[in-house]
Amino acid sequence: MDIAVIGTGYVGLVTGAGLADFGNDVICCDIDPKKIDALNHGEIPIYEPGLDKIVSRNVGEGRLRFTTDLPEAIRRSRAIFIAVGTPPKPDGSADLRYVEDVANTIAKHMNGPKLVITKSTVPIGTGRMIERILDQSGNGHKGSIVSNPEFLREGSAIEDFQKPDRVVIGASDEDSIGLMKEIYAPLHSLEIPFVVTNVESSELIKYAANGFLATKISFINEVAVMCELLGADVQDVARGMGLDSRIGSKFLQAGPGFGGSCFPKDTSAVADIAKRYGYEFQIIEAVLRVNESIKERMVSKVIGALDGEARGKTVAILGLAFKPETDDMRDSPTIPLIKGLQKQGALIRAYDPGAMENSKKIFENITYCGDAYETAEGADALVIATEWNEFRALNLERVKKLLKQPLIVDLRNVYDPHRMKAEGFTYISVGRTEDARSREHVQ
Ligand code: UDX
Repeated sequence: MDIAVIGTGYVGLVTGAGLADFGNDVICCDIDPKKIDALNHGEIPIYEPGLDKIVSRNVGEGRLRFTTDLPEAIRRSRAIFIAVGTPPKPDGSADLRYVEDVANTIAKHMNGPKLVITKSTVPIGTGRMIERILDQSGNGHKGSIVSNPEFLREGSAIEDFQKPDRVVIGASDEDSIGLMKEIYAPLHSLEIPFVVTNVESSELIKYAANGFLATKISFINEVAVMCELLGADVQDVARGMGLDSRIGSKFLQAGPGFGGSCFPKDTSAVADIAKRYGYEFQIIEAVLRVNESIKERMVSKVIGALDGEARGKTVAILGLAFKPETDDMRDSPTIPLIKGLQKQGALIRAYDPGAMENSKKIFENITYCGDAYETAEGADALVIATEWNEFRALNLERVKKLLKQPLIVDLRNVYDPHRMKAEGFTYISVGRTEDARSREHVQ
């Protein structure tokens, strides 16, 4: 099918490349000529494992193109995916300016029936808003609205696109559902479940799914606090809970709080949507509050490990991105961590395999290093903040020699506390029994 994907950010690019790989004829559009020019020269503006290969394969085979000519892309396409940003406004609600602009442009250039699909995470009711714009100014042509939320995790987005747990289609007529099934035909033959529903339910599914996953994380992070207070081990508690198939073991990894481009934005947005309808979404409000307090707690944890005094001490931070395998710094828990430590007078050395360029726009007065060992050199404490694979198998003997004192604060529970003790480290992690020292300081 001839498809246009509007917006070549993270979601748009993965969607465009993935749909082309399914055999569709895809044109990806963006108003940013620099981005399109780079893409036309084979440069991928984001870090996502495997994306470069799938883009170059589909460009090479003539199924994927990039353009700034939005009107032409609209005219030649039967289906148009909207994948532009919906950034949070200061009050937490989603800014729909770009979605509206695109809807108006589609309406203006409609030359036949169009299937208009929202891929961006949009507040409930946005599909209807787009429908009204198309009805009012669509040159008399029919525009059918579909909500088709993405569930792509950064770092494994290609796999998530090619083998999703489910495809959600929110539509109001059979023709639209049929066309969507055609677009996703290869998934149908893989027997991936399709959830077909109305537009509003589909829009809510995305918020409810992300809200629930964020709830699991905040829940286990509070369990970790309990573990530290009671002398329990959060890894064991999570395993004991997660093996109950009703609970499931995923998203029960305690850490420094959730970040990224989705969970913080979508949880705030769904809380805001509820308020607009006169309801307080109490669980989501609590999830957000807990996440803030967990992030603050990480600053206290590191300072506690430094015997309560950060001034003049050097802290080596391993990992800056909000999670491994991405260069994304959006809402990374390392931001309040590093800024909080700097505020208390700590000097920061840091290294991240992917996110250093982006983090330079956020932090000041950081010494950036070339690898984990250079970062550890002369530091009073080493903090593992993001669980990149290369931090999972550090040469501990070497790290110990490089550090001023053998102190590791592991905010991702990468290492075994008993082994670290045996290796001669003071090792503080999240919600685990060898954390006696942090129990004394983090109250
Ligand atoms: C998420 C959703 O998983 C995806 O379906 C949605 O479409 C977009 O948002 P992403 O933001 O890429 O994807 O990252 P994810 O892997 O879900 O992690 C989000 C945050 O939660 C990270 O900061 C991560 O470190 C944290 N997290 C995740 C935990 O702290 N514990 C966990 O058990 C899982």
